[in-house]
Amino acid sequence: MSAIKIDNVWKEYGDQIVLENISLDIEPRAFVALVGPSGCGKTTFLRMLLGQERPTRGSILLDGEPLPHEPGPDRGVVFQRYSVFPHLTVLGNVLLGKEMQGSRLTAKLFGAARRQAVDEARTLIAEVGLAGSEDKYPAQLSGGMQQRLALAQALIMRPKVLLLDEPFGALDPGIRAEIHVLMKRLWHEAPMTVVMVTHDMREAFTLATRVIAFERPRDRPEEKERYGAIISKDITIWPPRRAGEASLIRPDRDGPVASSGKHRDDPVNCP
Ligand SMILES: Nc1ncnc2c1ncn2[C@@H]1O[C@H](COP(=O)(O)OP(=O)(O)OP(=O)(O)O)[C@@H](O)[C@H]1O
Ligand SMILES: [Mg+2]
Repeated sequence: MSAIKIDNVWKEYGDQIVLENISLDIEPRAFVALVGPSGCGKTTFLRMLLGQERPTRGSILLDGEPLPHEPGPDRGVVFQRYSVFPHLTVLGNVLLGKEMQGSRLTAKLFGAARRQAVDEARTLIAEVGLAGSEDKYPAQLSGGMQQRLALAQALIMRPKVLLLDEPFGALDPGIRAEIHVLMKRLWHEAPMTVVMVTHDMREAFTLATRVIAFERPRDRPEEKERYGAIISKDITIWPPRRAGEASLIRPDRDGPVASSGKHRDDPVNCP
């Protein structure tokens, strides 16, 4: 169930080696945080997991099967910005994946199928704390609300793997702490493996089961054609965090938690 095996993967763009011989086994339900200096290939790696890019050499297996060469509903993604469509409402954004799946030509659902999809979307919108905002457009939401919408949009397809590229990087610290609580809850509840790129070590250690660091050991311009980034650190968080289980040490903070339903960045706080 949603194990990812990365085997001797290289990624080159022209003469430049970005990633060099990366091998990594990610277990089902893991929450991997990927850190590393700017330009070391974190987004490139994530895009390979998404199927937007292909390794130059090596293989990536999802549950033992080669990763399809294009993005699919089994892999959801949230970027730092621009994951949601500005011309669709909150409900429209969350419904979109289902509509595309239901009818690739018209992207519309009808009758019972639509009612069921709308119910599911509304439930998810409430779960991420956006109940009441179903008819708003992204421009009418705060940054934190937009990222919660992006999470709902990715989660409605019930992805096996959720890929996050600095999804909370642009948020204020208070809002970020709150969305961390939500993120943890979603990971505990949904049967998915998460790979999240972040620049923030604190965030990495707050959320992840495992922190992986990429680094270019040789980074002089003339070395770009001969050496890429490698895995320089692979840290398993202690005490172990397991999806769906409370932690031994901080069960209050580090386990399945109930939604408070209240969020600091609810519209009332928006000027
Ligand atoms: N499509 C592309 N064509 C050519 N080079 C690319 C392409 N995408 C990425 N690169 C190069 O690959 C390297 C890694 O880029 P990437 O965006 O993966 O880094 P990153 O670790 O995500 O950086 P940041 O932390 O700044 O987001 C960079 O040198 C970048 O210029
Ligand atoms: Mg990046």
